[in-house]
Amino acid sequence: MQTVFNCKSDKKSDVLILGIETSCDETAASVVKNGREILSNVVWSQIDVHRLYGGVVPEIASRNHIAVIDKVTELALQQAGVTLSDISAVAVTYGAGLVGALLVGVSFAKAVCQASGLPLIAVNHIEGHICANYLTYPDLQPPYMCLLTSGGHTAVVRVDDYDGICVLRSTVDDAVGEAFDKVARVLGLPYPGGPQIDRLASQGERTYNFHSVVISNGNFSYSGLKTAVINLVHNAEQRGEALNAADVAASFNVAAVDGLVTALEQERQKSGMNTVAVAGGVGANSYLRKRLLQMNDGVRVCLPRLDLCGDNAAMIASRGYFHYLKGQFADFTLNACPTLRLRGEKPHD
Ligand code: KG4
Ligand code: ZN
Repeated sequence: MQTVFNCKSDKKSDVLILGIETSCDETAASVVKNGREILSNVVWSQIDVHRLYGGVVPEIASRNHIAVIDKVTELALQQAGVTLSDISAVAVTYGAGLVGALLVGVSFAKAVCQASGLPLIAVNHIEGHICANYLTYPDLQPPYMCLLTSGGHTAVVRVDDYDGICVLRSTVDDAVGEAFDKVARVLGLPYPGGPQIDRLASQGERTYNFHSVVISNGNFSYSGLKTAVINLVHNAEQRGEALNAADVAASFNVAAVDGLVTALEQERQKSGMNTVAVAGGVGANSYLRKRLLQMNDGVRVCLPRLDLCGDNAAMIASRGYFHYLKGQFADFTLNACPTLRLRGEKPHD
């Protein structure tokens, strides 16, 4: 997908990347200096619109991206105190995500590059999530073990260097964020469900013992856990019994998170590494953050800033910087790739 061509020579020693992110329901633009320092980070969220429908409506998401992408980008440049002539390259998410939503960002980034002569960089959204750690911990360097926990991905990966990751474990069905959203829906909580479950769980007790999400081959499965909660709620409804939603949320939250922490720790011990990090929206989960901070002494635990756990363009600009350093640029044939995988990630049977 990515091809290399000669970009114009570096104007200054600082590399400023304009990042653009439109993979789902956040329209975002950001300027990041040298991959680590956020100069601006504008996120225009459509959550209020999609909440009316109980989830993201792809067509509405695309239309909203089109309506605001230019203003969001202008604002990001303005807040960074720069113009396009100060920018070294434009980095854009080209997958994974909703195809129409991705297309808006990719087309916009191509147009900016066409008009300005700036080089274009194609960024894998999930690799971007990992880079939220470099923005939070400017001294962090690979190698380390990372737990990927988003709405579409769940994996334990070894981050070997800025350009190389190895997927060690992943989900065979639903992603953890998806399970949070579906369980929230059955409990009658509004979209997006993850933060709602997180909040409700803190008011409840772990009274239900749901089984582990780690399956026999060490990978994860969330469909069984999700179905167990749905059956519990439906059976109670049929019997006319009242369930304590906070207890259900707390029990689900523990089951959804504990297996991930155990798997991360097992892989860390196997590798002999002493640094772990988290990436993706579920990284904002308070129980997950608490569990990780309880890891053994001597382990450095990196938790991205809360505002960088969810979708944003600063993480895309940071990822773009490392592509920039390696001369990995895209040409104008770049297209949206809704099912883009992580390098080394194999589809499960
Ligand atoms: O990484 P992300 O922003 O988007 C994707 O790339 O998928 O992740 C979104 C997911 C949603 O499923 C959302 O419910 C979940 O992250 N999430 C949380 C929390 N905040 C967001 N899940 C559990 N606890 C949270 N505090
Ligand atoms: Zn994301």
